[in-house]
Amino acid sequence: MRIRTATSTFLTLLLSTAVAASSSAKDWGLVTLADMPEYIVAGTPLKVSFSVRQNGQALRSGLHPQLRATTESGLSAKANAVAGNSPGEYTASVNLPQPGEWTIVIAGGLGDSTLKLPVLKVIAPGSTVPVAFSPATRGVRLFASKGCVSCHRHVEVNPERTGDPQLDLSGKRFPPDELRKFLADPSRKAGDMPNLQLKSNEIDALIGFIDKLVYKTRGQEEQ
Ligand code: HEC
Repeated sequence: MRIRTATSTFLTLLLSTAVAASSSAKDWGLVTLADMPEYIVAGTPLKVSFSVRQNGQALRSGLHPQLRATTESGLSAKANAVAGNSPGEYTASVNLPQPGEWTIVIAGGLGDSTLKLPVLKVIAPGSTVPVAFSPATRGVRLFASKGCVSCHRHVEVNPERTGDPQLDLSGKRFPPDELRKFLADPSRKAGDMPNLQLKSNEIDALIGFIDKLVYKTRGQEEQ
């Protein structure tokens, strides 16, 4: 559970310089979804709540985030978000009219950074309810929807990401108790990881994902 001091100092400098420059062209917005349903019924408006943190740090109000939903078959829907109840929070309501697999992308309204949510299953009214996700699958989905992907790489979620190898969590494993404490309060470590206000069941699912993959990889290696 350590990162080289040089890297984290560099990151601190980088982030504080970017924040000091208020809204420069290089600013980006970390989008963190509050909750994501496992599926919805077509035609029922989907209410999406999320927060935006300027350069991954302070919550940022006064933005105009936008949401776009698409299917591979070419359907699309759009919505503008409005300010939510707390600083840096926003909500948008979008209508996904047709059953299918919808991909929602949220543009936080700072620079061109976006967050792509895991695929949302939209079912026809009256059709069979999908089987609930396993905790590890919920963890993978949270890794995307909470915005972990905006800073970290994980080979199962965003293998295409390049960047600081220190922030690559692929194949890493942490003692679950330490990881639980860290995710509940990242300021326990001298790094710049924001506190994303994760709920305890979300932390459990994330641990299920982050730590499980290693077992799986090891199992495959042993075969
Ligand atoms: C704004 C960028 C940012 C986001 C978003 C972010 N992290 Fe981090 N994370 C960091 C940085 C920087 C570090 C290394 C600093 C440290 O050790 O405190 C880190 C460290 C970690 C570590 C390693 C801890 C250790 O002790 O080595 C884990 C695990 C982790 N993050 C998981 C997550 C998860 C899960 C999420 C999403 C819920 C997430 N991070 C979101 C920046 C981020």
